[in-house]
Amino acid sequence: MTAKITIKKTFKGLLLGAAISASITGAAQAAEVEVLHWWTSGGEAKALGTLRETLQGQDITWKDMPVAGGGGSSAMTVLRSRVMSGNAPTAVQMMGFDILDWGEQGVTANLNDVAKAGNWDAVVPAALKRFAKTNGQWNSAPVNVHSTNWVWGNKAVLDKLGVAVPTSWDEFISAMQKAKAAGLTPLAHGGQAWQDATVFDGVLMATGGVDFYRKALVDLDETALTSQTMEQVFDRMKQLRGLVDDNFSGRDWNLASAMVINGQAAFQMMGDWAKGEFLNAGKVPGEDFVCFRTPGTQGTVTFNADQFAMFQVDEARHDAQMKMASAILSPEFQIAFNTVKGSVPARTDVSDEAFDACGKKAMADLKEAGANDTLIGSMAHGHASPAAVKNAFYDVITAHFNGDMSSKEAVKQLAASVKNAI
Ligand code: GAL
Repeated sequence: MTAKITIKKTFKGLLLGAAISASITGAAQAAEVEVLHWWTSGGEAKALGTLRETLQGQDITWKDMPVAGGGGSSAMTVLRSRVMSGNAPTAVQMMGFDILDWGEQGVTANLNDVAKAGNWDAVVPAALKRFAKTNGQWNSAPVNVHSTNWVWGNKAVLDKLGVAVPTSWDEFISAMQKAKAAGLTPLAHGGQAWQDATVFDGVLMATGGVDFYRKALVDLDETALTSQTMEQVFDRMKQLRGLVDDNFSGRDWNLASAMVINGQAAFQMMGDWAKGEFLNAGKVPGEDFVCFRTPGTQGTVTFNADQFAMFQVDEARHDAQMKMASAILSPEFQIAFNTVKGSVPARTDVSDEAFDACGKKAMADLKEAGANDTLIGSMAHGHASPAAVKNAFYDVITAHFNGDMSSKEAVKQLAASVKNAI
């Protein structure tokens, strides 16, 4: 308790200092937003460009602060050091529990006026609002909804192999074995902890179903964590490990997408930001590539939503910050951004008309999962548990995937390291 209060006071003090020094140069910075984010791939940068252009149209200057690394762990490290040095950016791409954490520190900006004017309470889905608000205060502006239980396939490759879109785990594995026999990489993957964890989201949902996902990844129930089902999840991860190429280690996710795009690989298991890469390469869903839910998970959605958390800035920069928050939730921007990014709108009242086949499916799936209580936060992308627990999952999943650890041992280590992180 005492530690928390001290941290809070320290952050506030630092921010006040920053505000005083910033006000000296305030006029020059008045209409500028500094934006910290991890959208550095081709598709991501193109999507972010729609926000930059929207703001430039309002004479707001964009100061770019990119920190590469999917899942945002590196961006969050940079953010901590910026806040500690009393120099928080205007807006920070952020997800799930991280937003709640910063909201509780008392250093985020209050967006309630903008939210009220834009009717956010009525149009933003409850699953996102839960993270955007603390104690009745809006701290962040939701940009999109992504989900992780997706697979992306090269259409020409599947046609050539005579493979239909797999609907069960066994069909999926047999399709990949066919690809292997034909000399292709069955599964394009980048060996980075967050990518291993992203695959794990889908595998766990496919293996145990939504109740098991909730028990194991959200409730952190020890019986679920140490169950036979969990062991089977790890077995399936090992099965997938045998279907990636030799050079997967450390590869960026968008380079793995490129392997599917250029026909070198059959599939990639990745969130729908991968679609942004296909679109950016001029590819069309249904013609050049297929999108389908991780076999066995249709009807469920493991979601993650990017939001821009706003930090307290000096008076001179306040206006531009509020304009940015307001622009993000406008229906026009939501369409312009999400049709490029591969995600779907963070509002419930946007038509799917402008979206391609995969986008329409994503919107319909989201609606269905919301109604059936099968919409659940992605562990890999910070929507199931706070960062310490997420990192405990990352450590064991990646050690098992990349080493000789048995599934039994992984289950044991997982339960222990989650317990340690709580
Ligand atoms: C996710 C984020 C997506 C995408 C992806 C890869 O965490 O929600 O928007 O950027 O990382 O960078």
